[in-house]
Amino acid sequence: MPRIPPPARKALLTLHLVTALGWLGTDLVLLTLGIAAGRGADPAVVYPVMALVGTALFAPLSVLVWLVGVASSLLTPWGLVRYRWVLVKLVLTTVMVGLVLFLLTPNLRHAGALGAALPARDRADLVIAPAVSTSLMIIATVLSTYKPWGRRRTAQPTRMNRHRATTPI
Ligand code: HEM
Repeated sequence: MPRIPPPARKALLTLHLVTALGWLGTDLVLLTLGIAAGRGADPAVVYPVMALVGTALFAPLSVLVWLVGVASSLLTPWGLVRYRWVLVKLVLTTVMVGLVLFLLTPNLRHAGALGAALPARDRADLVIAPAVSTSLMIIATVLSTYKPWGRRRTAQPTRMNRHRATTPI
């Protein structure tokens, strides 16, 4: 894969951070709204707002985060499957994007349409789902900053680039 020059890499990293942390922020908004509905806020107002935030912001951001994350890996010396912390983030994010697109978004649309008529069990799901995904995103953020577990065995560093094994520049 082609490597990009440092200014382009900085721009890509900035885009990665803006999209990923925007995703986390949007998830916290969904969690707050889900809790608010459970604590007495008008569900006829809150669930349509959740549906709008979910479909117009959260779902598109999920796909964007995945694409920019993959680009950040492929266009830098980190690679997509070379380092364990990147691989774990890729798996976590891929699972989350699948759940957002095929489970959460349809559920949010359903909740937005039903409003106050939404059954109690479905209401609980709209708190649990954003709580779980927020936790996974915090894990992804911690993995990104600490970069644990080193390099995978299948991709042995050569003598020339061994110094890059922990922090590619
Ligand atoms: C497809 C999923 C993802 C992949 C493959 C991925 C990959 C990467 C790579 C390779 C870097 C280093 C970029 C560089 O050095 O130029 C990076 C940085 C970072 N990523 Fe991700 N990422 C993904 C998703 C996420 C998510 C979901 C979050 C948080 C919600 C996140 C947070 C961060 C942060 C905070 C950094 C900056 C770390 C630093 O500069 O020390 N990433 N990511």
